[in-house]
Order: sequence, then structure tokens, then C-alpha cells
Amino acid sequence: MTDGLVAARSDLPAALRGRRDPFAPLHENPLAALLRDPRHPGSASAAVPTGGAPLPVTRYADGRDRVNLGTGNYLGLAGDRRVVESATEALRRYGTSASGSRVLNGTTRLHLQLEEELADLYGTEAAVLTSSGVNANVALLSTICTPDDVLLVDAHVHASLHAAAAASRGQVVRWSHNDLESLASRLQQLDPRAGAVVVVDGVYSMTGELAPLREITDLCARHGARLVVDEAHGLGVLGDGGRGAGEELGVLDDVDAVTIALSKSLASVGGAIMTTRAAADGIRAAAMPYVFSAANDPASVAAALTAVRIMRAEPERISRLQDNCALLRRVLTDAGARPIEGRGAVVAVPTGSDEATGAAWRTAFDNGVYTNAVAYPAVPRGRGVLRLTVMATHNEAQLRAAGELVAAAVRAAQGEHGDGVDDRRSVA
Ligand SMILES: Cc1ncc(COP(=O)(O)O)c(C=O)c1O
Repeated sequence: MTDGLVAARSDLPAALRGRRDPFAPLHENPLAALLRDPRHPGSASAAVPTGGAPLPVTRYADGRDRVNLGTGNYLGLAGDRRVVESATEALRRYGTSASGSRVLNGTTRLHLQLEEELADLYGTEAAVLTSSGVNANVALLSTICTPDDVLLVDAHVHASLHAAAAASRGQVVRWSHNDLESLASRLQQLDPRAGAVVVVDGVYSMTGELAPLREITDLCARHGARLVVDEAHGLGVLGDGGRGAGEELGVLDDVDAVTIALSKSLASVGGAIMTTRAAADGIRAAAMPYVFSAANDPASVAAALTAVRIMRAEPERISRLQDNCALLRRVLTDAGARPIEGRGAVVAVPTGSDEATGAAWRTAFDNGVYTNAVAYPAVPRGRGVLRLTVMATHNEAQLRAAGELVAAAVRAAQGEHGDGVDDRRSVA
């Protein structure tokens, strides 16, 4: 098959040789072409295999140890002995797979226990586990709203929330990122009988910015709108109890549903939705990723359960992480790197052009620091960043050395390639 036509199949009758190839959008995807290009910065960082756990200093498959500023292991629990042991025990007891949906055979005591403890953590009536953070967002947004209702989605939410909103029966309206006037004007324009739900990330995953949740909850209250907050990058990071941006900004009680990913602070894989009992029951009855997909494997549930318990028993981990985030921001700022303003464990250093982003990533990597290069098309051209993520278990020497090295790498790359077309502090 060539040129986007199935016609090249010579076994087709002549009349069908002009049939278009429905796989053409895959074959011709410009991002896939970029990722095939080994010089593309995103492809370089995505393609580096690790040879060990995502620890502050990680062994990579090339045999070299590097300071790891590029994982979601915020509380440092992914290699914790207690977490590993609990997962091992569950593996021995329950086997490698739940081998079915939660609504059939896939529920173990561990699933129920984790749901209970997550609901307790957030002070909600219920929690629903899903097999990924993506699926938590899809399970929730695809089961709320009628065609007459409206989802008001911040333009920069995680891709899974955009996809989940598109899977909803409601109408999707985007508002400008973190722009309260934009949100307010859209709320004002709504039919007063339409259901309205505002959808935000607590912490934005590429820039580390917080959503202005106090003002957003005020707007929701004034307009009778519900609020959904994705706390994938807030859980374990913000608030004294590690509940995320909602706790940090004192509005947790005003959020109608919180979604999380277990793959970051909770050292596992999976997701969850914390909400009312009635809403949770509705999700369990109707959501495709819950009803028609296999349950989380018991070992990953055990890992997350142990991680939640450690997080709650050792709040000093959360404060150490917060100190580490502040330290890295300070080191970068002192070294002239101007990280985007934020309070979470995601620290984004603007690099500018794709070339500068790629060169800065390579220099940092070659000198012993692993980061995430974020370039076009994840962000608009000219607004690339090196995305650094912090762990509670990094020590001061590691963060100082790595921060200075990253700042120097960015400076050198911008000197060589220019800093792109745009000097704004926000990447999009
Ligand atoms: C804000 C946000 N929500 C959801 C997800 C998806 O989580 P998962 O990887 O568990 O599917 C991510 C992943 O990076 C994220 O950043």
C-alpha cells in the first residue's frame, strides 16, 4: 500500500484500486516521523532505557549512573523496601493478574482496601480504582453530562482530560489556561438550565503551575457549576497531608471529584476517582474503563496501598519533597535559569527553540543529569522546556550539582542555537 491508497494491492478488482487507506493517518503522522528522527529532543529522552529503579541516582542501560530529574517518583517510594515487599507478597498470594473486570472476578480484598483508604485520605464517601490515571479521567468524564450540559475545560489540562471530555455526551468548551476572566465569561454565557462542570489540573504537568483553585471554586459556587480536579501531580506533593493543590489552597471540600494517577507519588500504576457514593456507584455501573476492562493487578494495588500508608505515617517525606522543590528552584534561579513559577515537584526551565531544547537535554544527559525534553509538538514551537521533577529522596548535593549543570546546559544551548521566538515565561 502506497500513497495512502489500498490500491497497491494488486489482488483488488480494478474498481477498488482507488480506495483510500484508513491507516494513512498513522503512516503519515508528522509526530511519528519526528520520533523516528533520532535528533528530535523528545525522542531522545523517551528512548533512553533505564537499567534500574527510578531512584535519585538511576542506573541507565548504557551502564552510567545519572542524577534522575525526570520521573514521577516524587516521594521516592518506587524503590522503597516496604513497597517492594508488599508487591512481592501480593504477587505470591494472588498471582500476576486479576484476570478479569472488577464487576466479574477481578476484585480482591486489596482493591477494596485501597479504595477505602483513598476515600479516607480525601474525606470523600467513595473512591473508584481504575487501571491508569488516563482511565480515571475517561471513566469520570465519559459518564457525566447529557448533551445539554457543558464541560468547561482549561486549555492546558492533561491530554487524557481533553480526550475524556470528548468522550462525554456533553458539549466541550475550552477556556484560556488559568485565565479567570475567560472562565467567568464562558460561565456567564451558559444557558441557565444547562449543567456545567469545570475541569482543571491541580498542578499542570508540563509547567508545574497551580490552578487558581480558590478563585475557580468561587466562580463555580456563583454559577452553580461542579468542579473536577486532576491531582496526578499534586498528590504526595502539596498540602500538609499530601492531598494536592486542593488541600494546599484550602478548597478540598469544594471539589466534586478528584482524579489521581497512582504512577507518581504512589509508586505504582493505576488511577482513582474520589467522589460521592452515588457518583461512584454510577461510575461502577457505566464507565467503560471500569466495567469492560481488567482490574488493576494485585501487586500494583498492594504497592499503592503501602505507599499511601507510608505517605500518611511519614508526613516528613512530603515536607522534605517541598523543601527539595524550593531548593532546586532557588539553585536554578541563582544560576540564571528562570524556572516557570510554580510550587509543585515539576520544575520547568524554558529553553526556547527545539534545537536549544535538544542541545540542552543532550549536554545535561552527557554530564550526568537525566531530564525530560519537552519540545514541539508537546508545546508550541519556540517554547520548549527542560522539565525537571524532584524526589523527596534527592539530597542537597545532588540537587545543587544537577541544578547548576542544567542551568549551564540551557545557557550554552541558547548561546549556540538562540532561545527561539518567544520569551514568555509560560510554555503555551
Ligand atoms: C495530569 C495527569 N493526569 C493523568 C495522567 C495519566 O496518568 P497515567 O500515566 O497513570 O495514565 C498524567 C500522566 O502523566 C498526568 O500528568
